[in-house]
Amino acid sequence: MNTNIAIVGLGYVGLPLSLQFARSGVTVLGLDVDAKKVELLNQKTSYIKHIESSQIAAMVEAGQFSASTDFRRIKQVEAVIICVPTPLNKNREPDISYIIETGKAIAPHLAKGALVVLESTTYPGTTDEDLREVLEAGSGMKAGVDFHLAFSPEREDPANPDSKVAVIPKVVGGYTPACLARASALYGRAIKTIVPVSSCRVAEATKLLENIFRSVNIALVNELKVVYSAMDIDVWEVIKAAKTKPFGFMPFYPGPGLGGHCIPIDPFYLTWKAREYGQNTRFIELAGEINTSMPEYVVNLAAEALNDLGKAIKGSRVLVLGLAYKADVDDERESPSYVLMEKFKVRGAHVDYYDPYVPVIRPTREHAHWTGTRSVAWNQPTIASYDLVLIATKHSTVNYQELAQWSKLIVDTRNAMADVVSLPGQVWKA
Ligand SMILES: NC(=O)c1ccc[n+]([C@@H]2O[C@H](COP(=O)([O-])OP(=O)(O)OC[C@H]3O[C@@H](n4cnc5c(N)ncnc54)[C@H](O)[C@@H]3O)[C@@H](O)[C@H]2O)c1
Repeated sequence: MNTNIAIVGLGYVGLPLSLQFARSGVTVLGLDVDAKKVELLNQKTSYIKHIESSQIAAMVEAGQFSASTDFRRIKQVEAVIICVPTPLNKNREPDISYIIETGKAIAPHLAKGALVVLESTTYPGTTDEDLREVLEAGSGMKAGVDFHLAFSPEREDPANPDSKVAVIPKVVGGYTPACLARASALYGRAIKTIVPVSSCRVAEATKLLENIFRSVNIALVNELKVVYSAMDIDVWEVIKAAKTKPFGFMPFYPGPGLGGHCIPIDPFYLTWKAREYGQNTRFIELAGEINTSMPEYVVNLAAEALNDLGKAIKGSRVLVLGLAYKADVDDERESPSYVLMEKFKVRGAHVDYYDPYVPVIRPTREHAHWTGTRSVAWNQPTIASYDLVLIATKHSTVNYQELAQWSKLIVDTRNAMADVVSLPGQVWKA
């Protein structure tokens, strides 16, 4: 049986999902408002480092995947899956405008009996209230009667080779039992394990629990890092020992601050919605406070390290190593490296960055003024020209032994220098 679906938003979530459906024999129309991405994908070219162009080429050539900006083509499909961004606005409140705009764009073309699934991370109620309203208004149809509606969160883990869309269990919640059955059947074609839950809201809340769990635990180890450091205890050694416990413990690691477009953002979707119910989210707020204080802690420690060599931050040359928010990815959105660079700059340092995966800074919503800045080259004269190198991301392709040979002073927020031979006082853990 041939099934035609559309996936709206061909980003870090929508593109791998499209390819997995296409590989499973479902015909996928990828829709995006970004004409450049659409053109690249139709030319069988990937724009995401960990997705190979050959994977796209295979599906385009087999006629299983094509991309378009024409939303009128929604009328040809049996299901629409929405994977558009859900950022925070300037006041750190949920911005679901991308979901609403997508709902408005697809509603007039929605076929009777079609299924619409939202995958974007969001607060409980988005699917069965906000999205449902725009879909019903724009289509003149009723959810659960004339079309099916569901929510199914994505669990993408970029750059993790074990993170395969096909084998990560997929939580699905429907607006009605029939919506759930329909969505489960569709995902069941491409994904091995489906986890049905009783409503869209439970599925939305499940995704938030997963991300809040990470945010709170990362805050905990960040706090312990500061406390143990004052006691001259290395938190990395402590975590390494603790994780030998075969039950009741799971390792989380400290860092220079939270990054990415999930963990620093998603918990605040719940905070905002909870207010409507007169509820406070104290764990989320506290974790946010601790995690956002990390860049300041790191820069203060860098100041101390420079001071030890008789230098001030003002007038120093500082290199931030790693712009991507996590190791081995090319995604630098919401990266704490931007905050670090900003803080050094404000204190009068000359700041550059090195990242093999981010040769030049693309335009971003939050850090527009860094657009066009280029990574420095990796060679001895360049690296040795900095007074301090701050390791913000532990990319596995960086030669940390060379770094120890070339750099006078290294501030390491990722324990990247743990197995590298260095001189006394050369590496400061932050
Ligand atoms: N990246 C991850 O690791 C990850 C993991 C789990 C969940 N999520 C969630 O999935 C959602 C998507 O995240 P992402 O990382 O794929 O984002 P992304 O920015 O990589 O991709 C979103 C895509 O949507 C497109 N788009 C924006 N507005 C549109 C519109 N109105 N119509 C059509 N296309 C539109 C953009 O051009 C872009 O290509 C977010 O809610 C995010 O929180 C992301």
